[in-house]
This record gives sequence, structure tokens and C-alpha cells, in this order.
Amino acid sequence: MKKTQNTTEKQIKSKERVARHGEVFTAEREIKAMCDLVKNESERIDSRILEPACGEGPFLQEMLRRKLQTVKNRYRRSPHDFELYSIVALSSLYGVELLEDNAQICRDNLFNIWNQAYSEFGDQKLQVKQSARYMVETNILCGDALTLKQHDGKPIVFAEWSLLPNGVMLRKDFELSEMLEQKNQSNQHGLFPSGDSYEPAPISLYRPIEYWRVYECQRR
Ligand SMILES: C[S@@+](CC[C@H](N)C(=O)[O-])C[C@H]1O[C@@H](n2cnc3c(N)ncnc32)[C@H](O)[C@@H]1O
Repeated sequence: MKKTQNTTEKQIKSKERVARHGEVFTAEREIKAMCDLVKNESERIDSRILEPACGEGPFLQEMLRRKLQTVKNRYRRSPHDFELYSIVALSSLYGVELLEDNAQICRDNLFNIWNQAYSEFGDQKLQVKQSARYMVETNILCGDALTLKQHDGKPIVFAEWSLLPNGVMLRKDFELSEMLEQKNQSNQHGLFPSGDSYEPAPISLYRPIEYWRVYECQRR
């Protein structure tokens, strides 16, 4: 079993990183207590969660464990449904982190938690794993949560993943700045547009594709 990297037990990596980036990780007890404050959402398979300044992603990890527990409880008798809904759970978690090393650890941590759960359910398929890897690479971005820009100066863009019938996923990309503008204007809680008055337009639309090969998804 591959262990997730967890510096959170130590809470700091170096004094220099604390001084330069305010990098102090949240302790496990606080993470669990804070997730309990939104217990229903933390256990709902498709609730979309963003951890800005995610570090190694401790909140996202806890959310993923809870969502996967829901998937196990509901679909333990069906490896196919477990596979599908575990991917939906993973696809709903988003992070922004300033430092690339942290962002990469966060992606690896989420993938490893998902992969550990997946390994308990029958045959493991390479394409499903590639899709899971693709989703964490797409959803956990290295950038600045204050300027809403990536390191290369391009805007932070998140993919909205929606499950359609027959295990097909639809991807639409939105700029984070637009989503936050929309959230301010309509005072809604969700991360992505939900039919309220002001709806940002997606900047990219993709062809619908089966959940087990989303890594092949292509723009329309
Ligand atoms: C206090 S730590 C918290 C990390 C994690 N969320 C946790 O609770 O353990 C803050 C993190 O934010 C990152 N960070 C600092 N400024 C940031 C910014 N403007 N945008 C995105 N991430 C930032 C740091 O690199 C660090 O990993």
C-alpha cells in the first residue's frame, strides 16, 4: 500500500517557508472538526470542494476519504458502480497552491487515496487509473489564489465535470475569476454556475466521453 505523504503531522517544513509563504499546515484534529461542520457536503459524492492555498491538500484528502466511504457504503456490491462513482468523487475536488512541490504532493496524495480504495474492488483497469491521474492533474493547479493567475500569468481555469447518463462525463472549463464574480453577484454557495441570474460562459467545451477514458477528452 502506497502511503500518502503527510507533512501535516509536522505542520512546518522550514522556518524559511513559514516566513516566505505562511506555510503552516493544519493539524489533523482541526481538519476533521472543520469537515464535520459541513458533514453532509463532505459525505456527498459529487459536492464540489475548493481548497485555496491547499498546501499538500489535507482538507481535500479528508473530503475524499469521506466521499469514498459513501461510495463504498452504497456500491460495495458493484465494482462497476464503485469505479464510476469513485471517479465522480475524485473529479469534485479542486485545489490551488502557490508552490509546485506542494501542489504535486497534493495531487499524489489524492491519487493514492483513490487508488488504495480502487485496489480493494476487483480488477483494476489501467485506463481508469489514467483517468483518475488526469483528473487530479487537471483539478489541482499551481497558482496564486489572490491574483487568480497561474505561474505563467494565465488565468486559473477549472474544469467542471458532470456525470451524464451511461457513465459519460461532460467537461466544461471556467475561469476561476469569472466563477467568483458570479458567486459574489448571485450570493450562491456552489463553485460552478447553477442556473442563477448571472452565469459565466465556459471558456472551453469538450466532447462528452466515458468516465474511464477522460484523459482522452478533446475540445469541441
Ligand atoms: C497555512 S498553509 C495551509 C495549507 C493547507 N491548506 C493546510 O491547511 O494545511 C498555506 C499554504 O498556502 C500557500 N500559499 C501562500 N500564498 C498563496 C497564494 N497567494 N495562493 C495560493 N497558495 C498560497 C503556501 O505555499 C502554503 O502551502
